[in-house]
Amino acid sequence: MIANRKVLTDDMLARIEALASRYPTKQALTLPALHVVHDELRHVPLDAVVEIAELLDLAPAEVQDTLTFYQFFYQEKPHGKVRAFVCRSISCALRGGEQVLDHLCEKAGIKPGETTADGNITIEPAECLGACDFAPCMLAGNDLHKDLTPEKADAFLESVGRQNG
Ligand code: FES
Repeated sequence: MIANRKVLTDDMLARIEALASRYPTKQALTLPALHVVHDELRHVPLDAVVEIAELLDLAPAEVQDTLTFYQFFYQEKPHGKVRAFVCRSISCALRGGEQVLDHLCEKAGIKPGETTADGNITIEPAECLGACDFAPCMLAGNDLHKDLTPEKADAFLESVGRQNG
């Protein structure tokens, strides 16, 4: 039980508890629990770290260490409604991945790693997405965008605006 729950909802707790049988110890649930919260809130605030620690019988610093080890997690504020990872590894770089990243950021009015003021999208550089055949490519949510061009990048940004506008 968590004494003063501020962040973790009943639904989040149920999701974490449903995963418990797959892991050998409560402590092994640290990373999945962080993912559950991040998935729901698009970030893991410090209060959530404290609550996860209490739930899993860990020190808050141990949960925080796990969180900061992976650059995946946001903590201070949520990432955009859509999080787009643009590959900049070798195959994509050779086929214009950096230019696509620059183009997307310029059109969105942000720098790589930033979120638009309306909170619609965060654009981040990424390492190989395992889809080199389709270079240059980008993973946005669960969608892989293949063989990107500036035109395809524009159409993607428009679709994000439509979805969230
Ligand atoms: S180098 Fe971009 S997907 Fe592999």
